Amino acid sequence: MPGIVIVGAQWGDEGKGKATDQIAERVDYTVRYSGGNNAGHTIVVDGQTYALHLLPSGILNPGCVPVIGNGVVVDLEVLFEEIDLLLARGVSAADHLLVSANAHIIAPYHKVIDKVTERFLGKRRIGTTGRGVGPAYSDKVNRLGIRVQDLLDEKILRQKVEASLEQKNHLLVKVYNRAAIRPDEVAEQLLQYTPRLRPLVADTARVLNDALDEGKVVLFEGAQAHHLDVDHGTYPYVTSSNPIAAGACTGAGVGPTRIDRTIGIMKAYTTRVGEGPFPTELHDAAGEKLRQDGGEFGTTTGRPRRCGWFDALVVEQAVRVNAFTDLFLTKLDVLTGWEEIPVCVGYEAEGRRLAHLPMTQTEFHHAEPVYEYLPGWSEDISGARSFDQLPQNTQRYVRRLEELCATRISGIGVGPSREQVVMLRDLR
Ligand code: GDP
Ligand code: IMO
Ligand code: MG
Repeated sequence: MPGIVIVGAQWGDEGKGKATDQIAERVDYTVRYSGGNNAGHTIVVDGQTYALHLLPSGILNPGCVPVIGNGVVVDLEVLFEEIDLLLARGVSAADHLLVSANAHIIAPYHKVIDKVTERFLGKRRIGTTGRGVGPAYSDKVNRLGIRVQDLLDEKILRQKVEASLEQKNHLLVKVYNRAAIRPDEVAEQLLQYTPRLRPLVADTARVLNDALDEGKVVLFEGAQAHHLDVDHGTYPYVTSSNPIAAGACTGAGVGPTRIDRTIGIMKAYTTRVGEGPFPTELHDAAGEKLRQDGGEFGTTTGRPRRCGWFDALVVEQAVRVNAFTDLFLTKLDVLTGWEEIPVCVGYEAEGRRLAHLPMTQTEFHHAEPVYEYLPGWSEDISGARSFDQLPQNTQRYVRRLEELCATRISGIGVGPSREQVVMLRDLR
């Protein structure tokens, strides 16, 4: 029975939250497998907007068990704040929530280091969300991380915090000119969460494998996106984890053969927050119009998102690496009102025409988009609920993207609300 993965096909903020919430109505478990509270997933239900950073979006569906997998980095302050905010709005999030004993913790010092290193980088900064995500993953790989299970053993926790801060304090004081951080203070801060955390901690890999054995449906909700992946994205302008579909295996503890469906979420145009290459970016009034019409301001940091036309090369690479079985096209309604809509179908880089993303960062930085122009539409499509209710030119736009990405489009978003979708086939 199905394991389904949802992955952003561009640079994030494609509408993964809404897509997850859509499908979560009919699944048993929703699982975050990578990233931390650098994510911002917005879901609109009955006129109420929910912005989730750490909890999986399926939490809004009462029948669905939410899981934070081992691949996630957890800021405990944010976790409990988010749970309490939902509780105040009548969503009892913590009733079933499971948190992997192996997930790593974002400690207060990770946030300090994220901010000082960005400042230190100056012009070469990544434009991180400042949530401590990169430094927490660095510690994980360096074997200096603090895991959820460490909070259940005070003695071990104190030892690990001390070991983790030993080198960092030298750096903070001698290189960054900051005050040293006291390990005992950090340990106290973390330990105050233990009583609330303890009942949520589980061997989530076992729980999920058992669920799949029993024929339950498990939905793995990607955060970030293919092109922010530390291995496959526009390195170094990436996040520090593996948001790609394969990341669901390592980040939740399930084997590749348990994944039956990989769904790529792609916006009808392109956006990006933070630094890094973006060939179809618009610096003119057209870009500003996309930003205003699409409400393109970050859910997490409020930063204006960089906006540009749909780039088929960007999605095509994501299709290949993630082996998407389906695509979910979002925010098609935002494109209403353009006479014609450019779609990037190739690049010119250093005198050569490219049909795929360039191999090197140098070429990527010099890539100029080659556009095909598709006729636009002026009709309001936000009320459409079936494909034949879409204007002819809208249908043509969808079909052309499908052709360029060589993958079927199975769902289309025509507005932010839960019901504003056109489903072409069942995604479960
Ligand atoms: P995520 O990070 O991939 O979950 O995406 P975000 O939630 O950060 O950003 C997507 C934004 O677009 C949110 O404000 C959603 O409410 C909104 N949204 C999602 N799908 C649609 C859609 O089909 N049409 C419109 N107009 N807005 C959408
Ligand atoms: P969702 O899940 C868009 C970007 C940051 C920065 C880079 C590294 O909402 O799609 P980090 O704080 O992760 O070290 O920052 O990654 N970034 C995102 N951009 N959507 C996200 O998440 C992002 N998460 C990280 O802007 O460029
Ligand atoms: Mg987002």
